[in-house]
Amino acid sequence: MKANMIALEGVGKQYGGVQVLHPIDLAVREGEFVTLLGPSGSGKTTILSIIAGAIAPTQGRIILNGRDVSAVPPRERGLGMVFQNYALLPHLSVFDNVAFPLQVRGLAKGEIASRVANALERVGLVGYEKRKPRELSGGQQQRVSIARCIVYSPSVILMDEPLGALDKKLREQLQAEIKRLHRDLGTTVVYVTHDQEEALDLSDRVCLMNGGRIMQVGTPNDLYFEPVSEFVADFLGESNLLEGAVTAVNTVTTRDGMVLGVRSTEGCCVGSPVKVLIRPEKIGMTDAGAPAIATQRHNVTSGKIAQASFAGGTMRVDVLCEKGARLRLKTVSSRASELVGAPVVVSWATSDAMVLKN
Ligand SMILES: Nc1ncnc2c1ncn2[C@@H]1O[C@H](COP(=O)(O)OP(=O)(O)OP(=O)(O)O)[C@@H](O)[C@H]1O
Ligand SMILES: [Mg+2]
Repeated sequence: MKANMIALEGVGKQYGGVQVLHPIDLAVREGEFVTLLGPSGSGKTTILSIIAGAIAPTQGRIILNGRDVSAVPPRERGLGMVFQNYALLPHLSVFDNVAFPLQVRGLAKGEIASRVANALERVGLVGYEKRKPRELSGGQQQRVSIARCIVYSPSVILMDEPLGALDKKLREQLQAEIKRLHRDLGTTVVYVTHDQEEALDLSDRVCLMNGGRIMQVGTPNDLYFEPVSEFVADFLGESNLLEGAVTAVNTVTTRDGMVLGVRSTEGCCVGSPVKVLIRPEKIGMTDAGAPAIATQRHNVTSGKIAQASFAGGTMRVDVLCEKGARLRLKTVSSRASELVGAPVVVSWATSDAMVLKN
């Protein structure tokens, strides 16, 4: 396993006696892409600013590449920053904006020219050297600010909602570029967004924040399929949450009387109130007349289609189960919309039913 590039040890922040960031521990490994995800005001920018040195923490230490930099000023930390509002110098050309950090560092002219050319090539802006920022689209301006950041090869890049101001299509395109840049350059990236899809798409690990605390840190898969709480489950996408109580080992009976096999009830006593989480992608649906696919691993119930709508390449289908629960699932079948009211059988594996403690 690679060494830690960044380690926050008990880092917290207060403003006027209000703890906006409760003391957290967070380590980012060399070359890792870690995203701070969370609702507005959850403390994402505060963490990024503390790493950058723009804000001093009220408590805790910041270790960069093995060295305590808590008292080191921002410029000497050697980090690259990309912001949401691009922060380009309006009177300078694209070339001069990208060259700026190298000029500040006193590099020779020839070296600057070749590095700027390389950075502009990496972000797809060859030919735009002479333009001014106002002559560029939002996406192009954001590429300039990324080029200006990678041009001096910082070992860590901090990005605060860099794609927040762009439309969906452009955002997806730049996401792919940021991913490629990260892969090619091997730089450590700490990225901030409140967009869960963006976080899941880009990151090696996601740190989900709420109210100045870390809710869960893990791979996108961990957070999506193994959330530790209802907050995490809800924040990361659509979920079916069935309320009930533990009635036996690995068994939950829902309020409306469905008896469900679940992956594990470890740590819950019989009688404990819990919620069972099943992601829509994990629920299968067949026509009521089709041969049963039930096995011991499966939870099976019959119901009828209550609603169906398009969701990108798939159909989002709500099934009203015979005991009264409403389950959402995703299917590639476009026929579902013609079948509102049709009887169906839905099923899902015991291992895909996760227990969340109340
Ligand atoms: N200078 C300040 N003085 C007082 N409170 C502040 C200050 N800066 C930030 N805060 C508070 O700290 C909390 C965390 O702010 P932060 O900017 O880290 O949130 P965020 O997660 O980046 O949110 P957003 O998604 O809206 O950018 C907020 O409640 C904010 O009001
Ligand atoms: Mg912010």
